[in-house]
Amino acid sequence: MTNSSKTISATLLVSLALITFLFSSTVNASYYEKISPTQLGFKEEKLTHLRFFFHDIVTGPKPSMVISVESPIKDKSKSPLPFGSIVVMEDPLTLGPELDSNLIGKAQGFYMTVAQEAELYLELIMGMTFTFMEGEFNGSTLTVMGRNTISSPIREMPIVGGTGAFRFARGFVQPKTYQVDYYKGDAVVEYNVYVFHYTSPSSFWDV
Ligand SMILES: *[C@@H]1O[C@H](CO)[C@@H](O)[C@H](O)[C@H]1NC(C)=O
Repeated sequence: MTNSSKTISATLLVSLALITFLFSSTVNASYYEKISPTQLGFKEEKLTHLRFFFHDIVTGPKPSMVISVESPIKDKSKSPLPFGSIVVMEDPLTLGPELDSNLIGKAQGFYMTVAQEAELYLELIMGMTFTFMEGEFNGSTLTVMGRNTISSPIREMPIVGGTGAFRFARGFVQPKTYQVDYYKGDAVVEYNVYVFHYTSPSSFWDV
């Protein structure tokens, strides 16, 4: 071997070692780690009950919902929202059943009609996020997704998660009709929410 070819082989070897090192360290690097809940400020799990009223306003000067997708089924004699309709809403949540009672938050999301054999009742799949704007839970949200048979006295939907004070939330909501006009669609619904979540860290937005 000449001197220059020795230098080239040595350079090659060093480069190869470097590449192997970089490659293996990339392979061994991990994108996950185990941490303890207290590192993020989560200490004690607690159960909270929330109660409020949900207003789905269809008629009047300021509706809170729109039918964003009309069902291809045009016969509305059995239901104003035939199978396949999708409604998008931004509904106020109040402390009492009257619309002008204290506003505590809003529900944003959608519902769609999912029963083909609908007489005058409606069977919905709902997906929505409650954003609270009052008190301890101001700025925190809860997300609900499930089946809502709105003519039944007892209904229940699971809480699928939350943010802020409701991080790691699990639980359920029970909607109960307070007042409804099935033809117009205007409805006031009492919501009882039962949610397991953690004692809020003092500044939960800092994580
Ligand atoms: C809720 O939080 C927002 C944003 O931090 C704040 O502007 C508002 O005044 C708070 N509302 C109440 C009722 O505390």
